[in-house]
Amino acid sequence: MPVSREIAIVADPAAAAAERIAAVVRRGGQIALAGGSTPRRAYELLADMDLDWSETELWLGDDRCVAADHEHSNYKMVSEELVDRLPADRRPRAWHRIRGELGPHDAADVFEQELRATFGEAADMPVFDLILLGIGPDAHTASLFPDDAALAERRRWAVGVETPGMAPLVPRVTLTLPVLDAAREIVFLISGADKADAVARAFGDAPGLDAPSSLVNPADGALTVLLDEPAAARLPTS
Ligand code: 6PG
Repeated sequence: MPVSREIAIVADPAAAAAERIAAVVRRGGQIALAGGSTPRRAYELLADMDLDWSETELWLGDDRCVAADHEHSNYKMVSEELVDRLPADRRPRAWHRIRGELGPHDAADVFEQELRATFGEAADMPVFDLILLGIGPDAHTASLFPDDAALAERRRWAVGVETPGMAPLVPRVTLTLPVLDAAREIVFLISGADKADAVARAFGDAPGLDAPSSLVNPADGALTVLLDEPAAARLPTS
């Protein structure tokens, strides 16, 4: 079980997520961000905050195997919404890209080497200060899809996923579950009625391989789920 587990239904989950991330940026640390469309607003809000990111290193929890300037690139999205909008002298001291153009397996190897060079070759798992995650309507998180072999990985820090369970149907690279579980803080940012079923399966039901987001369990960390009313609509009331 996580050290703490909070499910917070709030009017503006993106703003709440931006505040959580800002708190880590103020003290400096290692942060992995989510792709997809939901976090865009959180990144815009962060770009407008008066924050010095120079003690922070930014990573992605997953990316699609496309070029860095491709419309499906999470790196491009986070660069445009956040990193490129920061003043040059207040940018993160590193902004790590996943080299998707190498193909999923080579890109995962290179990503893992970069993680090991930063977190220590001898480390069992990297310990992120905060990992931001989203969930898909199928309850996937990062690029960990229902019933995929990647869910069984216990040793690797990053793996390639050749066939994602959802669009865009391009191979992916993702952090593995044990890396998510080693984090000090996991924040899920979720909004919209189309996520209500997935939210109920992820956080209202018993964990299972058919709902990868239900498996995220940071044993020494805090788990926070920030969601709006429509996304929370099918959570059991207790
Ligand atoms: C990705 C992700 C993924 C995402 C969910 C939700 O690269 O697609 O990181 O796990 O967070 O699919 O995506 P939306 O916010 O677009 O619904």
